[in-house]
Amino acid sequence: MTVDEGRILTAEGIQMRFGGVTALDGVSVHIPAGRVSGLIGPNGAGKSTLLGILSGAHRPDFGTVRFNGVNLTGAGRTVAAHSGVIQTFQKASPFRGMTVLENVLVGMTNRFDPGLFGVLFRPRWVRRTERQWRERAQELLEEFGLSEYAQADAASLSFGQLRLLELARAMLAEPQILLLDEPAAGLNAQETKLIHQAVVRVRDNGVGVLIVDHDVRFLFGLCDHIIAMDYGRIIAEGPPEDVERDPAVRAAYLTV
Ligand SMILES: Nc1ncnc2c1ncn2[C@@H]1O[C@H](COP(=O)(O)OP(=O)(O)OP(=O)(O)O)[C@@H](O)[C@H]1O
Ligand SMILES: [Mg+2]
Repeated sequence: MTVDEGRILTAEGIQMRFGGVTALDGVSVHIPAGRVSGLIGPNGAGKSTLLGILSGAHRPDFGTVRFNGVNLTGAGRTVAAHSGVIQTFQKASPFRGMTVLENVLVGMTNRFDPGLFGVLFRPRWVRRTERQWRERAQELLEEFGLSEYAQADAASLSFGQLRLLELARAMLAEPQILLLDEPAAGLNAQETKLIHQAVVRVRDNGVGVLIVDHDVRFLFGLCDHIIAMDYGRIIAEGPPEDVERDPAVRAAYLTV
């Protein structure tokens, strides 16, 4: 594993309230490229809220999000995605009535905008670029074990295959940082293994990953670094073996 110190997503001093609820209370994290960071914590700890802020979707009440030194605080998903920060969702649904391949190609809209002229007249460079994206999408389907379903309606995929499809779509956008909210939730052991392998592959390509899951065994076996939250704060952080032994983490999990 090589951690690229130059490319790093950081959040500093994040505060976020929803009405009377303090979802995040002074959270700072560093997510470097080339490393898998795991985010654990009981229900309502603030994990999804933090991902939404890191992906630019939500603007925190206080604090700053930066990637490669560029301020992405509340910049919106599209701007963050263009900078290379891409999030997948806790509850995902495919674009029904579209093939699996077309669903992956949706990921290119984050990277390729041919403009009105390009859409209307489809000049040769647009067709060539589209062909390249299509080839890349097909490669990704192969990598994620979905190539035989490329022309099938996405609605016909199993729940686990849909999670893999979502990862493939996110990868087409060539992220530098990938934020995954419970990608293995509800999956069987075989499907979870596919997600594990996919995340390792993504990491080995130099992408930084932040992954949330309730299955602590799964995360500890996958991640290089663990961040543990409870009640909107970070209670422990470090290599999995250290966090596992941490008394505050044990207490948080025993009280669930
Ligand atoms: N849009 C919202 N409006 C009001 N309260 C919210 C909103 N989003 C989150 N919250 C509250 O903020 C707190 C943190 O929620 P969050 O979804 O970030 O937790 P989580 O760690 O992802 O939990 P889970 O493991 O259940 O997914 C919770 O108390 C939640 O009820
Ligand atoms: Mg959540």
